[in-house]
Amino acid sequence: MSRGTAIDLCYLVAAVGFIVALKALSSPRHARAGNLLGAAGMALAIGATFARAGLGHLALIVIAMVVGVAIGVPAARLVKMTAMPQMVAAFNGVGGGAAAVVSITEFLGTDPRTVATYKVLEVVFGVLVGSVSLSGSALAFAKLQELMSTRPITYPAQQIINAIVGLTILGFALALLVSPSTALLWVLLVLALVLGVIFVLPIGGADVPVLISLLNSFTGLAVAASGFTLNSNVLVVAGTLVGASGTLLTRMMSVAMGRSLPNILFSAFGSVVTASGSTEASGGRSVRAGTPDDVGTLLAYSRRVAIVPGYGLAVAQAQHTAKELADALMARGADVFYAIHPVAGRMPGHMNVLLAEANVPYDELKEMDEANIEMPTTDVALVVGANDTVNPAARDTPGSPIYGMPIINADQAQHVVFLKRSMRPGFAGIDNDLLYDPKTTMLFGDAKDTLQKLVTAVKRA
Ligand code: TAP
Repeated sequence: MSRGTAIDLCYLVAAVGFIVALKALSSPRHARAGNLLGAAGMALAIGATFARAGLGHLALIVIAMVVGVAIGVPAARLVKMTAMPQMVAAFNGVGGGAAAVVSITEFLGTDPRTVATYKVLEVVFGVLVGSVSLSGSALAFAKLQELMSTRPITYPAQQIINAIVGLTILGFALALLVSPSTALLWVLLVLALVLGVIFVLPIGGADVPVLISLLNSFTGLAVAASGFTLNSNVLVVAGTLVGASGTLLTRMMSVAMGRSLPNILFSAFGSVVTASGSTEASGGRSVRAGTPDDVGTLLAYSRRVAIVPGYGLAVAQAQHTAKELADALMARGADVFYAIHPVAGRMPGHMNVLLAEANVPYDELKEMDEANIEMPTTDVALVVGANDTVNPAARDTPGSPIYGMPIINADQAQHVVFLKRSMRPGFAGIDNDLLYDPKTTMLFGDAKDTLQKLVTAVKRA
């Protein structure tokens, strides 16, 4: 077998590894193995690339890899779960930028007068999509890291201005195809970077995770374009997989939020906060605040308890204590399950990852539809740091900004207990009537502290 065939075979095995890894990543049970398989595929692809004849700039490549590893490994190890979306944004932006740089470098190495049109098309695509992804992801990072306002930033005629910039880019791209020139490429690069910024400005913090998933799919496509430019099949396959999975994830998140993608991208959702959590905003309604001892007794004598986790569980890092409480209840013979909303938290699978960290058995997790079947026969829905994902307005109030988002029907349980620190709203910034429902008890405080007190109270009951 020739060296070329062996390398192609390695690329094929790596590509199959990526596909199987993606499949495994879609279930919590196999996600860890999927991750390892994907990494092994990537290692094989990199090894095969080093074996290619005529690979230049070896020292530079090794230095770049060492720098990448020195940044990537500690970043991945040290990042807090709640900061994961911004890390994905940062890494994604770098990927898009790298794809754009590859396209530019290839273009600079050719003679614009003789270069084939299809080559220019690949370069234009790579530069355009990669640059939008780079600057868009940088801004998404700044929003999530709260280096700037997380609210949508809007100004008059915003979408018209965006459309004009988009059309101008299209014009330059066509001009470049007709008459390739380096000067035009630089103009295109700058305009694409500007488009990335103005595209992301009106998107609010709550919608940024969806945006990141979309930008991720852009990066995948830009990488696939650089694969064509470099004649690298493995880059084409890997880029296409990222593009396709990012697109699917974006769609799944939109569906789980009950909103269309254009609405998420263009409606500046969250620019108006309709609830402040203040007494005035509650319209004078009162809430019932309980004590850990009362709720502990209620839980101890319940037959079925649903724990509904949300973003606050991640903030409080209360996953281990939640499991401790579930174990204490199960030891008393209760049936306990975790009701998982697909967009609870701030990233896809956020709750699954947190609960897996606490070794919660997978069969105790129930997806939303399955959990909702159980809700009417559940004694207590214990809502731990969730808010929007249990807000009945999403189901019952046409005109509510979150109307249409599927929710966990916690309100159908016999009793509802909220563990949160205050009456402040969730990410969508809107009031939740369930907090004022007569069957609801509020346990104010940090979720981890409160859960710990509940464990003690249950064991004592
Ligand atoms: P949210 O509606 O954001 O509510 C989280 C609640 O946690 C808040 O009400 C907050 O109340 C409470 N909290 C924060 N820190 C806490 C702590 N240390 N201890 C106790 N409680 C604490 O969360 P959710 O129900 O998970 O909904 C997720 C939201 O994000 C939805 O609007 C969803 O559409 C949006 N979103 C999610 C995703 C993905 S993929 N997950 C993507 C885009 C958008 P206090 O401040 O009063 O404590």
